[in-house]
Amino acid sequence: MPHTSSVQSVLILDYGSQYTQLIARRIREERVYCEILPYNTPIEKIKARTPHGIILSGGPGSVNNDESFKVHEEVFALDVPVLGICYGMQAAVALFGGSVISSSVREYGLAKVKPLTRGDGSLSPLLKGVNFSKEAEVWMSHGDTVSSLPSGFTTILESETCAQAGVESERHRFYGLQFHPEVTHSQAGQKIIKNFLFEICAVLPNWTMSSVIIDTVASIKKQVGGAKVISAISGGVDSTVASYLTSKAIGNQLHCIFIDNGLLRKDEGVKVHEMLTKRLGLNVHMVDASELFLSRLAGVNDPEKKRKIIGETFIDVFTEEAQKLGDVPYLVQGTLYPDVIESVSVNGPSAVIKSHHNVGGLPEKMQFSLIEPLRELFKDEVRTLGTELGIPAEFIQRQPFPGPGLAIRIIGEITKEKLSTLREADAILLEEIKAAGFYTNVWQTFAVLLPIKSVGVMGDARTYEEACVIRAVESKDGMTANVCEFPFKLLTKISSRIINEVQGINRVAYDISSKPPATIEWE
Ligand code: XMP
Repeated sequence: MPHTSSVQSVLILDYGSQYTQLIARRIREERVYCEILPYNTPIEKIKARTPHGIILSGGPGSVNNDESFKVHEEVFALDVPVLGICYGMQAAVALFGGSVISSSVREYGLAKVKPLTRGDGSLSPLLKGVNFSKEAEVWMSHGDTVSSLPSGFTTILESETCAQAGVESERHRFYGLQFHPEVTHSQAGQKIIKNFLFEICAVLPNWTMSSVIIDTVASIKKQVGGAKVISAISGGVDSTVASYLTSKAIGNQLHCIFIDNGLLRKDEGVKVHEMLTKRLGLNVHMVDASELFLSRLAGVNDPEKKRKIIGETFIDVFTEEAQKLGDVPYLVQGTLYPDVIESVSVNGPSAVIKSHHNVGGLPEKMQFSLIEPLRELFKDEVRTLGTELGIPAEFIQRQPFPGPGLAIRIIGEITKEKLSTLREADAILLEEIKAAGFYTNVWQTFAVLLPIKSVGVMGDARTYEEACVIRAVESKDGMTANVCEFPFKLLTKISSRIINEVQGINRVAYDISSKPPATIEWE
């Protein structure tokens, strides 16, 4: 869904930096819409976006390498301001005839920069309002350095180790920074980004969540007309916000299918259903398919087999429900922006969210056209949007929950008894974590049931029961994770409550593995 022309935008051409998405985030924080495109995007495509400014990102390459990613002169022919960051600055300097030297030693870390005035004594507009006596620290991460400037370029910043820490060319409307203003360690970074946006590109800060809502609702209305739309809703943030936003456009033409696969947390199905119908007024078809899922999973131990069975069963149940609705040409999907960025990262596409999409097989199988109301948004923007739409905070702040649910948290075979044991332990854990105020600022907290028994003692009796593991991690995107350093008292309280209150568990362990090398889920 392209953004509407009323919203002005800035484009980032991606040269593969690990910080590219961060640049986008920083710009959007200023209420300016921005998109990331690969560095070699055809100029016609760039022109079609009518950007008010262009940013050339950093990247791992060296402009002295023949294979290096170039910046094309056509970008400058668009006559919009261009900001080159790190590699992006070097690529522009090389294009206009300057030189860059490669060094085997990287400069990595904090450096202090000093401003240099232009010939007429003025300061570059990029540096307006920066107090260099207080906020001169910047974050450097580079091997190559600009050694000589093209004619007409001037130095606007220098540091002890880097003579060309910032450059500009008024003729080309080009600004270059050797450091990373998008990284929070760069003290005046956000100010410099703001200067580029508002002083140099003169873009308007008119990209707000209410503008996103208005634009998206209008565009869904136009796309769908009077047709029926279906959505698979899990109660997770993405599917809830995507469905609710769609319903704002087409009301009860949207049919939300909520499948209870029998693998949900304690009371989850009822709570989610109630929120979706009573609080959000969505048109929800609740399908209790737990018996089908559990019968197909009976006797299955292998994690991959479990996932496959759950995925296939989901598609079977969903297909059956969709068929009951007659002709449904559209499917809502909660695709997020990180899934759609065509990054040029050296490690392949920088789609950081794992491809665990539980409805992934549906479009091909049933030939739906997709409605993806969130495909331009980052996760935290989806949360802001959800709040703006009036979705209750307890839903917006929910931790992620995997599609295969408790099936991948019961190691080995899944039975109804094990599910009920795990649900109880998990509920106690969540209750305590919430009470201690940790729920919203950690990525995930959950319990895992192990298929081993150990000896214990309860009162005067010997017990021989199952063990449960508590997992709690901090993460930004689920790709890497650190163990939460919860207070020991809290952990022992949770442990004793689980052992005392949950039948069948007599031992609790805390998982202290980070990801990598461990994964977040156990299966
Ligand atoms: P791992 O275990 O791979 O998990 O470190 C990373 C993140 O992804 C979630 N996850 C899933 N989410 N369907 C989902 O919707 C899945 O099949 C799935 N498997 C893992 C996991 O909870 C964690 O947040």
